[in-house]
Amino acid sequence: MQKRTLVWDLPLRIFHWALVSLIFAQWLTAEVLEGYMDYHAVFGYTLLGLMIFRLLWGFVGPKHARFNDFLRGPKAIWQYGQSLFSRHQPTYTGHNPLGALIVPAILIVVGTQAVSGLFTTDDVLFNGPYYPAISSELQGTMQWLHHKMFDVLLVIIALHVLAITSYQFLLKKPLIGAMFHGHKNVQSKSGISSSRWPLAIVLALIIFIFMYWLVVIAVPEIELDYYY
Ligand code: HEM
Ligand code: HEM
Repeated sequence: MQKRTLVWDLPLRIFHWALVSLIFAQWLTAEVLEGYMDYHAVFGYTLLGLMIFRLLWGFVGPKHARFNDFLRGPKAIWQYGQSLFSRHQPTYTGHNPLGALIVPAILIVVGTQAVSGLFTTDDVLFNGPYYPAISSELQGTMQWLHHKMFDVLLVIIALHVLAITSYQFLLKKPLIGAMFHGHKNVQSKSGISSSRWPLAIVLALIIFIFMYWLVVIAVPEIELDYYY
């Protein structure tokens, strides 16, 4: 019997909407506003922390957050893709095989964006903390990645939002609300019984300490020559 059941745990929902807000903030602080590079860096570190969190949550989080619950092979993805053109699509409690690709895609692209930022400069006043520690050739590659990956990210976001709004309004599947309140009308035994938030808090604390070490304590002190 179908019942209103918890599907998306609270840490996953916080992850999702923090990700959305911070990516918007990154665009704003780098491309719209001037003089906000310090904020851009802190938001970037937070995004890197979020990527580490989601990676670990994919192994230790509740059922529908786990990679082994939603990552399928090419055949399953292809078959699901074809079913979208038929009258009835199979229903999944968590991610469907095609939509699930957003998770590895975001981990790779946002992860690359955040890591390359650590080695990037704006050529004026701001250097990423590890910029002086690498060769000038690598600096060029990192800068190139930091510019290009954002375009890739925008394409992924556009496809994702287009897919979600099509499910919501054309196929009448209420996915958007579920990413806020976490519940769907499904077989109650296919849902989750808890959000495991105490575990999420411990993970978040460990990641915070790691990030502090990475961008404050471990940063190499290299004197730069400035010419005025
Ligand atoms: C910067 C923009 C966005 C990014 C980077 C993004 C990223 C993601 C990621 C990574 C997931 C997988 C969640 C997980 O398992 O960790 C996801 C799922 C989801 N997102 Fe977004 N998202 C964005 C914008 C939006 C917007 C604007 C909406 C609402 C209109 C939305 C609605 C959803 C929904 C409903 C799901 C669950 C899909 C399902 O049921 O399988 N997202 N998103
Ligand atoms: C996922 C996290 C991040 C996102 C989404 C992001 C996004 C962006 C975007 C869209 C730009 C503008 C690029 C352009 O003008 O074409 C930019 C520039 C820049 N970002 Fe990030 N960034 C992130 C993380 C970081 C981090 C962690 C740092 C350093 C601590 C950083 C440092 C910079 C610098 C120095 C620039 C200026 C580059 C230039 O003017 O050539 N970013 N970033």
